[in-house]
Amino acid sequence: MSSGGSRARGRVPLMAGNWKMYKTSGEGADFVRHLAGELGVANDREVVVAPPFTGLASAVAAARGSSVKVAAQDVFWQAEGAFTGEIAPGMLTDLGVYAVIIGHSERRQFFGETDETVAKKVRAALDNGLLPIVCVGETEAEREAGAMEAVLSRQVPKGLAGVVATEAGALAIAYEPIWAIGTGRTATAEAAQQAIAFVRSQVGAVLGEEAAESVRVLYGGSVKPDNIDELMAQPDIDGVLVGGASLKVETFKRIVQFNEA
Ligand code: PGA
Repeated sequence: MSSGGSRARGRVPLMAGNWKMYKTSGEGADFVRHLAGELGVANDREVVVAPPFTGLASAVAAARGSSVKVAAQDVFWQAEGAFTGEIAPGMLTDLGVYAVIIGHSERRQFFGETDETVAKKVRAALDNGLLPIVCVGETEAEREAGAMEAVLSRQVPKGLAGVVATEAGALAIAYEPIWAIGTGRTATAEAAQQAIAFVRSQVGAVLGEEAAESVRVLYGGSVKPDNIDELMAQPDIDGVLVGGASLKVETFKRIVQFNEA
């Protein structure tokens, strides 16, 4: 399964499901067992699910010995301390968590996440051996005002402010246009490719060409079984971050098992 595109240079597709505030611990474990059974051992792509914090331990236990990995939806940057309600990176790795979503637009919109807090969380995740999945993307108003590139050329360098070039392969960026999240309005594959190529160019601008080639850039926003193949056929799209369609095994499985043109 090879597109002959840039992924041939070693960017393993990353297919990630963001469950948001859905699924109890037991429901998440059932999902992971079911998904793992359906997928078998797939080693040409990474499959990740991100339960709420309360579902991490049971998801990790259910995923043991399978190709499914587990991500958290957020993390705090301090190792420990008087930070009521927060979760430290070491607490995640202690559970066997593999990755962490950072700066999701819902966290930026509802919980005061900024480019500066994103940068601190990315640094802390890398320091603890967690794969950060850093979310960026413009609002509808910003897109209509022609400000997409201005937004991305702020969010990417600021979010990666603490990263050095050699770490680019140890992180992923998810480009999620906010107007496409949960709306059913996916960006066209061409528009997603274009924006993601721009994100990659921004990584190049701050960390250099080699880093830009090794960083994985995902698309997110109403990814579904019926648009996944076209999205994954784009040379710069290295995977997806899926919300709604990751909540059912059948739809997420089809997304994970995309067919490259
Ligand atoms: P969606 O969510 O797939 O439901 O649009 C994507 C996301 O928020 O990561």
